[in-house]
Amino acid sequence: MQRTLSIVKPDGVKKNVIGNVIGRFESEGLRVVALKMMHLTQKGAEGFYAVHSERPFFASLTEFMTGGPVVVMVLEGDNAIKRVRGLMGATNPAEADEGTIRKDLADSIEANIVHGSDAPETAEFEIGYYFNAMELHG
Ligand code: CMP
Repeated sequence: MQRTLSIVKPDGVKKNVIGNVIGRFESEGLRVVALKMMHLTQKGAEGFYAVHSERPFFASLTEFMTGGPVVVMVLEGDNAIKRVRGLMGATNPAEADEGTIRKDLADSIEANIVHGSDAPETAEFEIGYYFNAMELHG
């Protein structure tokens, strides 16, 4: 059993596809063990994406992520990190495989609908960033 953090980004909330995204995870046997809707602050977004702070797209990314509410969730299942990333597709929707969330729903590398942790260490940091132990219901 493994846990991963996923976010339906502001573009996903605006496009009314929260249920579409979560449904794809659930259909593949992943379980939602924590969930909340929130509007990220600038500091909150900068802290979450601190690993990207030197990247040229950092300012734009944090502005985008604070542009509207998001839905943050923890998903649990065997090999959850890799499976969620497979369902999401490539970061750039133009490069994403057919049938993936980003191929089907996303507009650009920035407005790419969904986030998923990329490794066990990242998942641990990201889950702890948004949820405390009492909010995890696995
Ligand atoms: P995410 O999985 O949330 O992790 C970092 C995000 O930065 C990524 O998805 C993209 O939405 C965003 N981003 C914006 N521009 C770029 C870029 N040029 N390369 C990679 N990621 C980018």
